[in-house]
Amino acid sequence: MNKISIIGAGHVGGHTAFFCAQKELGSVALIDIKEGLAKGKALDQNQALGLLGINPLIYGSEDIADIQGSRVIIVTCGIARKPGMTREELLKINLSIIKDVSQKIKVHAPESIVIMVTNPVDILSYACMRYTNFPKNRVLGQAGILDSSRFLYNLSKELNLSSADINTMVLGGHGDTMVPIPEHTTVSGVPLLQLISEDVLDVLIEKTRKGGAEIVAHLKETSAYYAPALSAVLMAESIIKDKNRLFPCSVFVEGEYGLNGAFIGLPVLLDKYGVKEIIKFELPSKREEELKRSFEFYINKINSINF
Ligand code: LAC
Repeated sequence: MNKISIIGAGHVGGHTAFFCAQKELGSVALIDIKEGLAKGKALDQNQALGLLGINPLIYGSEDIADIQGSRVIIVTCGIARKPGMTREELLKINLSIIKDVSQKIKVHAPESIVIMVTNPVDILSYACMRYTNFPKNRVLGQAGILDSSRFLYNLSKELNLSSADINTMVLGGHGDTMVPIPEHTTVSGVPLLQLISEDVLDVLIEKTRKGGAEIVAHLKETSAYYAPALSAVLMAESIIKDKNRLFPCSVFVEGEYGLNGAFIGLPVLLDKYGVKEIIKFELPSKREEELKRSFEFYINKINSINF
């Protein structure tokens, strides 16, 4: 049976474990250093799975060595944003956590594929790649699916259309510089730009960029977790089932789109090896510039860190 490990059993980690089990992707190790947290959640989750007719699949543990044998590891540990904070303000504390966890992943699950969820995700994906020394196809960050889900939600509400028919994509870094691509968004093949005015579109793009902060402002004690968890699980599913799905994910670039040396959100094919390919396509020049600006923000951050 395939094994997936979730490191961090907070809101995101707990939901990630449950969604993985609900999809029966394999056995799930839910790990958290906080005594009892993962074990308690796993017990509750296995009982809920029983109600869905699914055998118990989740194992809770305080010992990170239990990630051994995982095909996919989803990293969710660290602290979440509080109202008014940017994701980048989490860097200092979460970087030291990710350093420790990455070194342990390298020891206990050297063949795994890592999906980073902890913020700031683009920077910490890079840190994880450095600390594990994994090849670039085996470390990726979750962000683009989540950001696309927010753009999709905003569009479906505004246009009063089913979200099932909207196909969209948000590229760039997971922060205020993210780059929604309305020019390549369709509603069952109908170009979005023929259905919406530029003014309304601009408002929805801005709302998408601030989508995470909007939720933090409501929740106060933490950030979003249902959509972040499900986004990571869709990535894991494509890897575990070798589905070749095309998703926007944070990946390490070496020349693609003229970018080099950091992680940034781009369209990626995910197969059993992790990142199979970064798909290149022509972006409208406005979006290409936005993508470059977003990338510059992250590469400058990375260059200022003493790893
Ligand atoms: C968000 C956080 C999880 O965007 O990054 O909700």
